[in-house]
Amino acid sequence: MTTSLVNNPTADNQTIIKPNYPRNCWWVATTSEKVGREPLALKMLDMSVVLYRKEDGSVAALDDRCPHRWAPLSSGKLVGDDIQCGYHGFTFNPEGECVRIPSQPQIPSRCRVRSYPVVDQPPFVWVWMGDPEKIVEGPPVEAQWPADPNYSSWSGETLAEGNYMLLKENVLDLTHFGYVHATSFKILDWVGAPTVMVTEDRVSFRQEFIGCNLPPMFAEVTAIGTEKKVNRYNYGSYVSPALNVAALDIEDHEAEAGKRKNFQFRVIHVTTPETPTRFRYMWFGGFDIPDMDPETLQMCKTLTEIGFAEDKAIIEALHRNIMEDPRHLDYPEIIVQTDQAAIQARRKLMAQIEKEKNG
Ligand code: FES
Ligand SMILES: [Fe+2]
Repeated sequence: MTTSLVNNPTADNQTIIKPNYPRNCWWVATTSEKVGREPLALKMLDMSVVLYRKEDGSVAALDDRCPHRWAPLSSGKLVGDDIQCGYHGFTFNPEGECVRIPSQPQIPSRCRVRSYPVVDQPPFVWVWMGDPEKIVEGPPVEAQWPADPNYSSWSGETLAEGNYMLLKENVLDLTHFGYVHATSFKILDWVGAPTVMVTEDRVSFRQEFIGCNLPPMFAEVTAIGTEKKVNRYNYGSYVSPALNVAALDIEDHEAEAGKRKNFQFRVIHVTTPETPTRFRYMWFGGFDIPDMDPETLQMCKTLTEIGFAEDKAIIEALHRNIMEDPRHLDYPEIIVQTDQAAIQARRKLMAQIEKEKNG
């Protein structure tokens, strides 16, 4: 039996890909800097959510649907810590309770919207979309390093058509570098399968390149150049349905006296499904080099944007194959050794969804 990327692979012409995201999970709504004193409308896990910052700086997240005539609350405005609907002025506090109906003094007890637990843990704002009784400690701390002054980082966001797991699987099988990114990242030696480790809460991979050359971006940032032989240690993890992380440690064992011998490059891949067939991809890249010069930083950002646009293009192309080909998911899927990490991640996801379904 295939472990398809959807939790129900039965072809159904209307909804070929069904929701495959657990709700009892910390999901990233957006980056912390994007939430301010203007209502911010977002779609996540099929729901419309409005986020805003209260006067004390903390973040509120509410259902973006007024229970009166169903207008989006985000079309209204903030009044202190409350949000006022832009249609008839009903006003809700950060807990989702209606505190004012301009046309009458009585407020029906059912007049409220759902309020979601939020953690603002820069660089991301995380939201708990599931059962508040099942809330787990978190969100994962692995995405916090961009706030560390010892790193210089850059970031980006894109909206992609496809199931979010396609991206998560993409970043767990990096043998696509030599093809998808042949002219951008130029990492052409990633051919074999990495070592895969599965623990209770994550799936990790590791691959070592001993006595190799550095691809251009790394050669330039570290000033090691493309000619010198160094060691590269690549590793990464599926941390949760919302988060994958990756890193590359560079070891220049013949570094001249006074020069740095070790460098670390890190990446965060955050995926937030808007629907089963569309997701937001938010990413950070960075080096453990404080205050990198702006030109080098811009070069890294531009190159990463080009590379990740290449990932988006291939993912959207295979998504079209799933959706438009009348065979949909009823098509062979050949699994080879380099797919191990992705397959293990699928299993972890399915187990989490199954567990949630069974209460
Ligand atoms: S729809 Fe919001 S107040 Fe009427
Ligand atoms: Fe890629």
